[in-house]
Amino acid sequence: MLNKKTVDDINVAGKKVLVRCDFNVPLIDGKITDENRLIAALPTIKKLINDGGKVILCSHLGKPKGEPLPEMSLAPVAKRLSELLGQEVKFAPDNEVVGPNAKAAVEAMNDGDVVLLENTRYRAEETKNGEEFSKDLASLCDVFVNDAFGTAHRAHCSNVGVTEFVDTAVVGYLMQKEIDFLGNAVNNPVRPFVAILGGAKVADKLNVIDNLLAKCDTLIIGGGMAYTFVKAQGGSVGKSLVDDSKLDYCLEMMKKAEEMGKKLLLPVDTVASKDFPDPIDAPIDTEIVETNAIPDDMEGLDIGPKTREIFADAVKSAKTVVWNGPMGVSENPCLAEGTIAVAKALADTDATTIIGGGDSAAAVNNLGFGDKMTHISTGGGASLEFLEGKELPGVVAANDK
Ligand code: 3PG
Repeated sequence: MLNKKTVDDINVAGKKVLVRCDFNVPLIDGKITDENRLIAALPTIKKLINDGGKVILCSHLGKPKGEPLPEMSLAPVAKRLSELLGQEVKFAPDNEVVGPNAKAAVEAMNDGDVVLLENTRYRAEETKNGEEFSKDLASLCDVFVNDAFGTAHRAHCSNVGVTEFVDTAVVGYLMQKEIDFLGNAVNNPVRPFVAILGGAKVADKLNVIDNLLAKCDTLIIGGGMAYTFVKAQGGSVGKSLVDDSKLDYCLEMMKKAEEMGKKLLLPVDTVASKDFPDPIDAPIDTEIVETNAIPDDMEGLDIGPKTREIFADAVKSAKTVVWNGPMGVSENPCLAEGTIAVAKALADTDATTIIGGGDSAAAVNNLGFGDKMTHISTGGGASLEFLEGKELPGVVAANDK
């Protein structure tokens, strides 16, 4: 359980509360195309409004690198949040974030009002955890709440630096929920615990594999990263994505699994094609081949039907499942069946099912299985670092209970 003070441990009535959210949402032509992060932030915001706080929200969006780029303004978020909350979220458009507009807006607040500051990354010091901007942010508030789980792996002014200059720094409900779900699943799982890892590159998941192998009962590896394991075992993987510098690492992990008596499942068959689809969702010709005998002119792009059955079967008896990374190029309907099969297996089980953000969260949501999962993390990099067993600076910085 998270041993940090939370919004339930403080009294915010009449106080100015700065809340760090992760409103880093995808925008196309000023329109938010995935608002899950906004919805996930609502419980904390509503609680602080109901308790009579003056709620000052802040977040980054994209990587403007100290430039006030209009396409990365948080203005569309203020508009959508107002609709979701059913009350005005007043936007304070300052290029220096804590400027005359922000100060005036905060000064004019009544209890229960909500203000949203401009993109914290309009200030170059933000990502350097600089003192001046941390102090500027702290000067706006009496109390600081960090609810930005998606940013918790960063040590920036708005989630870490600011805590040095406020007396009270607690976490919000989203942060609490994320750490409780991910933490319980990984560190205190109801067994059998099955971890499923996918995604393109082994190199991105080295520490996750290591950490989860030690904690789970069965580790399933699919997606592009599986081909490096298959090649390490001596299989022919054709043109599939392989990281030759990680062959020894894969062998080491397989040995470790054996020594620890853990099951490590790899694909036995694969959906292969002569070329990678271009654009990514273009129809392509595919063939089902054995994973360790992929023809030289083909590359594996999804797990095959036998593998889907084996993976689904392993999930059936699980009590806890953590899944990070798609099984294939799930953006393409010809290459999404493997990811769909795993999502379906998770949807059908009574196990606690946790989806570790990023691509896997997008895949599960886009394929229509979102509401069937116990918890879908709002963090990409943050959930990955959590699954690696790392401490997250944004969490560490909050006051202990
Ligand atoms: C994310 O989308 O993973 C978080 O908002 C962090 O964003 P960043 O990778 O730009 O720091």
